[in-house]
Amino acid sequence: MMTSEEIRNRFLSFFERRGHKIIPSASLVPENDPSVLFTTAGMQPLVPYLLGEPHPKGRRLVSIQKCVRTQDIEEVGDNTHDTFFEMLGNWSLGDYFKKEAIVWSYEFLTSKDEGLGLNPNRLYVTVFEGDDNAPKDEESYAIWKDIFERAGLDPEKRIFFMPAENNWWSPGSNGPCGPDTEMFYDVTGALTEGLTKEEFVKADDEQKIVEVWNDVFMEYEKKDGKVIGKLSQKNVDTGAGLERLAMVMQGTDNVFETDLFKDIIFAINAKAAKTPSVFSPENLRKAERIVADHIRTSVFIVSDGVVPSNTDRGYVLRRLLRRATRYADMRGLEEEGLIDLVDIVIKKYKNVYPSLKEGEEKIKEEIRKEIAKFRKTLAKGLKEFEKIAMRLDGGNTTISGKVAFDLFQTYGFPLELIREVADEKSLTVDEAGFYEEFKRHQEASRKGAEKKFKGGLADTSEMSVRYHTATHMLHKALREVLGEHVFQKGSNITPERLRFDFSHPQKMTDEEKRRVEELVNQKIQEALPVSYEDISLEEAKRRGALGVFDEKYKDTVRVYKIGDDHTGVFSLEICGGPHVQNTSELGVFKIVKEEASSAGVRRIKAVLLSE
Ligand code: SER
Repeated sequence: MMTSEEIRNRFLSFFERRGHKIIPSASLVPENDPSVLFTTAGMQPLVPYLLGEPHPKGRRLVSIQKCVRTQDIEEVGDNTHDTFFEMLGNWSLGDYFKKEAIVWSYEFLTSKDEGLGLNPNRLYVTVFEGDDNAPKDEESYAIWKDIFERAGLDPEKRIFFMPAENNWWSPGSNGPCGPDTEMFYDVTGALTEGLTKEEFVKADDEQKIVEVWNDVFMEYEKKDGKVIGKLSQKNVDTGAGLERLAMVMQGTDNVFETDLFKDIIFAINAKAAKTPSVFSPENLRKAERIVADHIRTSVFIVSDGVVPSNTDRGYVLRRLLRRATRYADMRGLEEEGLIDLVDIVIKKYKNVYPSLKEGEEKIKEEIRKEIAKFRKTLAKGLKEFEKIAMRLDGGNTTISGKVAFDLFQTYGFPLELIREVADEKSLTVDEAGFYEEFKRHQEASRKGAEKKFKGGLADTSEMSVRYHTATHMLHKALREVLGEHVFQKGSNITPERLRFDFSHPQKMTDEEKRRVEELVNQKIQEALPVSYEDISLEEAKRRGALGVFDEKYKDTVRVYKIGDDHTGVFSLEICGGPHVQNTSELGVFKIVKEEASSAGVRRIKAVLLSE
């Protein structure tokens, strides 16, 4: 069995022997890039060099980059999702291009001596079929065709052309990008004879084949979501997930059985309660996987200097630790047992990432503090929850909005957690009722404030101002949830609702809508101050403000900021205003409709429920 350590070493040596210089992983906290919370791909720290700046180590580089992606946090617990991963990548900065990149990828995957020794008859690849931005990638096709023919395999049944949706890679709506070729491995061992395109797509869907590597040919550049032309140099950016490769090499169908996770899972099992549990074996297994994943990710995030807080990175960390704690409880793992996992993670990774060893005490302390804090709240809240569940009449399985809101108010249970605990008990939560309560509460406190200050109800222009601020928050939340390709395409506000048009290629899923609503409501609850500054257009750009950068703004622009240094800045947008002074004035944000507006543009209608 090939260990993850050996996979890393083989990868680095393979490319070192081919003229690449090894560069260390950059921090998980991106430098000089306010648009992303965490480093999510190996190419991110290399953007300036992909754009043409000379790299001090030359034109051929190889790296193993730490990455965090939390979009799929709810999926963790299945076979393949995790929130932290390592990406193996080799880079050509205007040096070699398709030929070498593809031939070396194939060699590394299949060579017994130098690489992974995978069986070529279990490999499949995709290449870009072409569109308005770039032609069909015949060159990559020809290179793969030659490779498969030499291996005695039918190229027709191995290489498939796919559209940009599958085979075009870019980090967001700006920056270097290009067509890619992706390599897939048959994890069943039963698909050795080749596939038709339909069979291939189906096998991918059923996870019988998994993507193991992606070679991106970065010779294009994107601006505001559009491909604007070619870069000054042709680059190669490749990415192979270590967890996936370990799965393949260790003959398992899930990441948690690879050596990257085995010790952690083992420790959880060893330390967990041995008494019979009320939860099903599947739920217990899911719980231990979530604990393992979230603690591992938290260790890495803290080691890069993030501490738990209510905003941005700190909030992601807090959420991971809270979820880990909840699922540790479910699995019957005591507080000390949970903290011990930190040691196991550090031990597993400290040779590869020395900063873990150096920061060991601090990492443990931060995690311990946060978990202890959360446990206190949790213990009180859970007791209350039990009482509530007991009090429900025989046939009634719904936690009322009022009760859910009390849990939220008194014990700080986020709705997400209430939903989760209820779910475990086969109960449901009246979420609409929860928002109703929230609204009542907001209204009461607003009325109180109004009595004090001026009395009377908000007039219509005040409502429009609220919708104006909500629009900025929605814009930002959409970008966080859907990605950086989202830009405002139009906006219309009445005292009753907001309407917002934005660039996005497909219908939003219910889950995406829910996440956007949650994020906006979370930021409303955080009571962020809103302020503005008049600054130069250049400076606004430098700070990463959203907005239309064109001549009509002249030299000075007004930039509205939601949040501050203390709370963390949530949104920064060029705008004339006016806006509310604090997000707590907004009430509850609710999306009422999401529909197509025109090609590539979606439209959202949303309301604020406090009125
Ligand atoms: N940037 C590409 C990816 O993340 C290849 O490294 O998949």
